[in-house]
Amino acid sequence: MKSQWGDGGSVDVDDTRLEEMTPEPLLTRDYETRPALVYERLRQRHGPVAPVDLLGVPAWLVLGYQESLQVLQDDDGWPKGLENWRARSEGRVPADWPLGPSLEVNHVLIQGGPGYPPLRAAWDVALKPFQDPGHPQARRLKKAVTDYADELISLMGQGGSTGLADLSAQFSRPLPLMVASRLLGFPGSQGDDALMDMWRVLDAGPDAEPALERLLATLAELAAVKLDEPGDDFPSYLIAAHPGLSLDELARELFMLLGMTSDHVGILISNTVVEVISGEGGVRASLSAGMVRETMNRVVMRKPPLVNFVPRFAARDTALGNHTIRAGDPVWVSSAAAHADPLFAGNVCPSTTVSTRAHLSWGAGPRQCPARELASTVASVGVGRLFERFSHLDLALPVDQLPWRSSPFMRGLRSLPVRYELAPVPERRLAYDPATQSAETELPDPSARQRSSLWRYLTGLIRTGR
Ligand code: HEM
Repeated sequence: MKSQWGDGGSVDVDDTRLEEMTPEPLLTRDYETRPALVYERLRQRHGPVAPVDLLGVPAWLVLGYQESLQVLQDDDGWPKGLENWRARSEGRVPADWPLGPSLEVNHVLIQGGPGYPPLRAAWDVALKPFQDPGHPQARRLKKAVTDYADELISLMGQGGSTGLADLSAQFSRPLPLMVASRLLGFPGSQGDDALMDMWRVLDAGPDAEPALERLLATLAELAAVKLDEPGDDFPSYLIAAHPGLSLDELARELFMLLGMTSDHVGILISNTVVEVISGEGGVRASLSAGMVRETMNRVVMRKPPLVNFVPRFAARDTALGNHTIRAGDPVWVSSAAAHADPLFAGNVCPSTTVSTRAHLSWGAGPRQCPARELASTVASVGVGRLFERFSHLDLALPVDQLPWRSSPFMRGLRSLPVRYELAPVPERRLAYDPATQSAETELPDPSARQRSSLWRYLTGLIRTGR
């Protein structure tokens, strides 16, 4: 088969079937420590689309920028939905495949087929009040994020006005979790136990499976409550926009929201902090000039939180890169690899004031992230508060020694050790100061915080001394 190049040329396409190949494993030690090198090696060997072994299951990894766009922008040609996966229908995906559990929880990110369009439309409607800057709900959320950030910083400061902290565990991870709890409309901090189960699931330790079961059960209970008594929260808006969803289906959608919010937003916050502290001279200056969003755009492009997207499947035999992808073959778009494609990277000018938005960190095409504004707001408010409240914030480790954690889907910092000094200026507004709390502040009272398992966990992390 011949494949056309963008410049009018053509290339001979390799027709070897995926199941006849013995692709190299993607998730190696090198992938964990130097993913850019792994993507480059694959690109050298196979071109813009490479066969890889994903923990025993073969798949195509899309490394080219153009090829990624080709897939992402054509949902009919490259639909999602595990029912489209030929190897799975033919029983060639092992029942105990480690990636099975995260892909088999069928929700909007994974789903294809006729159920998807109304579900996506409902997500867009349900998120709108939180993302439309003119909506009171969006203003209240932004204020709540500021308050949560201040609370977390004040808690860290209980270890002393100068000290050491793990900014990931003590700020970047809990902040989005608190936001998720608010979006979900958990009363007070009652959802904390459930939310901390999300961390157990994401960390994929031995207690991940029971944690997932508990979490889905709690979310189904929450959905039942919202069905009876709708509130101003995401589950109630989703139910109103898509009344046909069962409790199980609702629980899966809420699980999706919780996972995306708590993991990806946390990664974005930590990565932005590292960029500001260790980046070129201008980064801190641009932050004080109010360009947090611009800094974040550069960060999200250089280090996308979602490095590889969930699989799509060829609707029919299609030439992509130097290979023929057979109908039903799984295709994983890698935003991290696509951003390193010389075709994209070569056109990114590092010295421009405003960086390109043509990157793939939020996806592309009809299935692009619907919560981009929400995620950016939470992260930029959080990062903004950090650099306002701390007069000094420095990495406690050289930047190249920061510990990373990788999964087939995401890449983020495992911890972010910093030395801090709190600014001597009065806090903008202490969350629990009744004199300064406005009517819109809806933080739980301090005694509820003390009862909260999240708060007890965070208090246990406070390090005293220098
Ligand atoms: C820094 C944070 C985030 C990043 C980098 C991010 C990135 C992405 C990307 C790349 C996709 C497309 C995946 C694909 O094409 O397969 C996506 C989809 C999605 N994201 Fe986000 N996301 C973030 C936060 C969130 C949050 C907080 C939510 C929910 C409140 C969310 C909800 C979704 C949903 C529902 C989809 C599926 C859309 C569809 O398939 O139609 N994301 N996200």
